[in-house]
Amino acid sequence: MSKSQKMNKNEEQLFAVTGQFETPDDIMHAAEKAACRYRKFDVHTPYPVHGMDGAMGLGESPIGWVTILVGSTCMLLMLGFISWISLIDYPIVWAGKPYFNLPGYIPILFEITILTGAVTTVLVLFLIVSGFPRNNHPLHDTPYMQRVSDDRFGLCIEAADENFNEAEARALLEEMGAKDIAPIYFNPVEADAGLRLSNPIFMVFLAGVVVVVSGASYFALNRMLELPPFNWMNVQDKTVPQTLHTVFADGRSMQKPVEGTVPRGYLPEDNYKEDPDAMAKYFANPLPASQEVFELGREKYESRCSACHGFYGEGDSRLQGQYPAPPTLHSKKVVDEWNDARIYHVITYGQNIMPAYAKQLTKDERWAVVHYIRALQRSLNPKESDLQ
Ligand code: HEC
Repeated sequence: MSKSQKMNKNEEQLFAVTGQFETPDDIMHAAEKAACRYRKFDVHTPYPVHGMDGAMGLGESPIGWVTILVGSTCMLLMLGFISWISLIDYPIVWAGKPYFNLPGYIPILFEITILTGAVTTVLVLFLIVSGFPRNNHPLHDTPYMQRVSDDRFGLCIEAADENFNEAEARALLEEMGAKDIAPIYFNPVEADAGLRLSNPIFMVFLAGVVVVVSGASYFALNRMLELPPFNWMNVQDKTVPQTLHTVFADGRSMQKPVEGTVPRGYLPEDNYKEDPDAMAKYFANPLPASQEVFELGREKYESRCSACHGFYGEGDSRLQGQYPAPPTLHSKKVVDEWNDARIYHVITYGQNIMPAYAKQLTKDERWAVVHYIRALQRSLNPKESDLQ
């Protein structure tokens, strides 16, 4: 223990004189007055009081400069790094863009500016401005702090101010109408004690934590996964894309579908947009002409199609000219020349100004609508057998 500490041991020193006020207005005026005489003083309120920084004469905080300086420096570093990668270290054509492609870098540069700016701002605020980590402060646990973190507004004039004089500070507080004016003492030895970043024991402890945590993660992720049973998934027989495989004769692990087969759940009708004739040639209505299917078709036709095509498919649109009326569905073309799949193609992909209905109707619903259209056609033009 040094000589000065020995001298001060148990000898309390004055930290500040404090006073408490009842209302935000009172503390605003008190802060304005204190600012005329002192620089080292502080205000403590149970909640943020707007305009306090102005009343305390604090001026603009320089912290914004830290943010912009660090943010823009890191942005320029990142720009340099990306340019080095894309121009020198690994030039590669991406989607036909030039090697140096600034618009594509903007999201990265933006994020890096925000990230580094924000993190540095917080670190500077905590470590430099507020002096954290610090587990000791003369105001801790004082009756003053208890009150001003509850329902009072406190003014604390610090002894370190060059204009400070205890009697004068008290007089000023009294004059401003402060309540519970009280000096705050502290013990310099105690204030100095406790955990500090620079404490060697703390540093060794921190280094130990780093070594243990990173060592354990390294072991878990790089070594342990190679040991049974954790490696079972890695060493099992399986097909990995783009690799050699011993099961197939050609040695490839990725095989083409067997010719003439269709994968389960896949219907090739998704690929006939440009070719209605091929669709008409290769497809037939897969649904039976049952009561149930007609009911489904009627429901869907009336809700989705009838507004334009009319309830009986005669092209008698209900849209009153808001949308061009379609031709009748009882034309010779649709009745005789088009098979079910050809009508299905119009519903699935649309035709000229007729919109596609693939999103609104499932495949089955579309085929059911086709059945219903056939029924409508038949009803206008019944065959003799229908009448019996
Ligand atoms: C927004 C109005 C509208 C709706 C709704 C609509 N259509 Fe059409 N449809 C048209 C128009 C307009 C045409 C004519 C398109 C053209 O110019 O080729 C047409 C054409 C057709 C054709 C071809 C007729 C031909 O002679 O070429 C069929 C078949 C058809 N629609 C069936 C349907 C079915 C089934 C539905 C319901 C799933 C439906 N439409 C919903 C407006 C509509």
